[in-house]
Amino acid sequence: MTAHTPLTVLGIETSCDETAAAVVRRQPDGRGEILSNVVFSQIREHAPYGGVVPEIAARAHVEHLDGLIARAMDEARLGWDDLSGIAATAGPGLIGGVIVGLMTAKGIAAARNLPLVALNHLEGHALTARLTDNVPFPYLLLLVSGGHSQLLVVEAVGRYRRLGTTIDDAVGEAFDKVAKLLGLGFPGGPAVERAAREGDPTRFPLPRPLAGRPGCDFSFSGLKTAVRQLAESLKTDDAAGTLDPRDRADIAASFQAAAADVLADRTENAMALASDLVPPGHRRLVVAGGVAANLLLRERLEVSARTFGYGFVVPPLKLCTDNAAMIAWAGAERLALGLADGLEASPRARWPLDPEAAPARGAGVKA
Ligand code: KG4
Ligand code: ZN
Repeated sequence: MTAHTPLTVLGIETSCDETAAAVVRRQPDGRGEILSNVVFSQIREHAPYGGVVPEIAARAHVEHLDGLIARAMDEARLGWDDLSGIAATAGPGLIGGVIVGLMTAKGIAAARNLPLVALNHLEGHALTARLTDNVPFPYLLLLVSGGHSQLLVVEAVGRYRRLGTTIDDAVGEAFDKVAKLLGLGFPGGPAVERAAREGDPTRFPLPRPLAGRPGCDFSFSGLKTAVRQLAESLKTDDAAGTLDPRDRADIAASFQAAAADVLADRTENAMALASDLVPPGHRRLVVAGGVAANLLLRERLEVSARTFGYGFVVPPLKLCTDNAAMIAWAGAERLALGLADGLEASPRARWPLDPEAAPARGAGVKA
């Protein structure tokens, strides 16, 4: 198999609370096409607990994955012999779920004699813009998801240079926690965005941690604490401690504005820094990961990109949140370079994109 023939890859994603399968084709000139893309969201299973329960997630992946793979193959109108390879998320993520997806992929690869790609989930997010917009390397990436907030230069498949990361919480995690303490339910990001639509973002002047400081690192825990204290101070003092809907909407809007300001500030520093690393014709800011679905953030970053002379690329909403098309695509990019993995590939709970990057300073660092 060479990069001179089209590659058709089945992708499997099971690292968190979406069970997903997709088939993607990569043409030798680098163009991509999604032949099928099915996602089963486990939101209903986890909603009663207000967050993702790892054991429930792993069991739901076991229950749904085979059916989803069959559907993805059907919708692509393909048989196993039409595939060039199979790619599955091998980490980072909830290890029970990762094991389900990777072992299923290994089973199919062994039975059908197909090459396997054991993929880094973050590489899936990082390369999606090449599937949707054929973006050439290198480019600047803001990766914002439930577990990660990072700024990276994407130099090539498998080559990432980290410019900044969070020193405490990831931004998606902050959205989820704020949703919880405002009683907005789960999943948090879309709920906060919905509530914020009715709110006044200027009513509460919340902190913008690290904004105006040099560097590209993020911090969100102080913002989250400020939201908690604000919410407590506004709660009526009946036993349930409920918030007035007006206050709730104004807090959501004020939080979202603060988070967007911080992300824009750090990304602007990265664009200034990256001008040495990304040549003028390549200056594009790509935003990826679940939080990239946030409309205010998209608008805010588009303005920043324009100000710094960068093009702006953000995948359509359903390719921002977790999906298997991004896994199939990143697998195809790897196979085009001859980068398959052996059947001994291990699942990994933690797996940084840039292993060379110095550990972030700060307490409770997760990325
Ligand atoms: O990439 P993703 O689907 O899963 C991970 O790899 O983590 O990201 C999920 C995160 C969650 O924290 C979710 O609350 C957040 O993305 N998210 C959003 C929005 N949609 C999803 N955050 C803000 N606004 C949204 N519209
Ligand atoms: Zn993700």
